[in-house]
Amino acid sequence: MVLGADKYLDRVLLTEEQLQTRIAELGETISRDYAGKHLLLLCVLKGGVLFLTDLMRHISIPHEIDFMAVSSYGRGVRESSGVVRIVKDLDEPIENKHILIVEDIIDSGATLSYLIQLLEPRNPASLKICTLLNKWERRTVDIPVDYIGFDIEDEFVFGYGLDLDERYRNLPYVGVVNQDNL
Ligand code: IMP
Ligand code: MG
Repeated sequence: MVLGADKYLDRVLLTEEQLQTRIAELGETISRDYAGKHLLLLCVLKGGVLFLTDLMRHISIPHEIDFMAVSSYGRGVRESSGVVRIVKDLDEPIENKHILIVEDIIDSGATLSYLIQLLEPRNPASLKICTLLNKWERRTVDIPVDYIGFDIEDEFVFGYGLDLDERYRNLPYVGVVNQDNL
């Protein structure tokens, strides 16, 4: 139990069991698809952290991890502006490595579109995207998503890495925010 979270919870959207079952499936698929390849999981901080650590435990082939932090300017905390800035870059070059970006959620697609433009000139062997949640209705920038945990409706969610004003990332489930109590 996480103190205080109930107040903001309209309903649980994805239970811990649903999340873990799907993440195990994704890990098995990724292990098969990348067998024999130099795989690097690129986690986008901070939201992707819980997903990364659970996913990598289900990836049975050798792989590396690295982290990037991006921040979007403007338009308030619940909506990204599409203007993105790098807060932390990767530690190592990615040339000739197979890069799989691990994200918590894709909303407009602006953040990932920016990341792709930034990473492609660094000549990775391949560049693909794995997102836990996909808010497909909200997409304004067309980006190819290779692995999707769950397609979800246009509702503001929190928990399992996703924050509500920087809190509650540690919830084991994904919940829909009760807008009345914000
Ligand atoms: P995009 O650039 O519009 O695709 O924004 C993606 C980012 O917005 C995600 O990485 C999250 O940090 C944030 N975001 C979008 N929707 C939600 C949500 O429902 N809950 C929490 N964060 C969200
Ligand atoms: Mg994020």
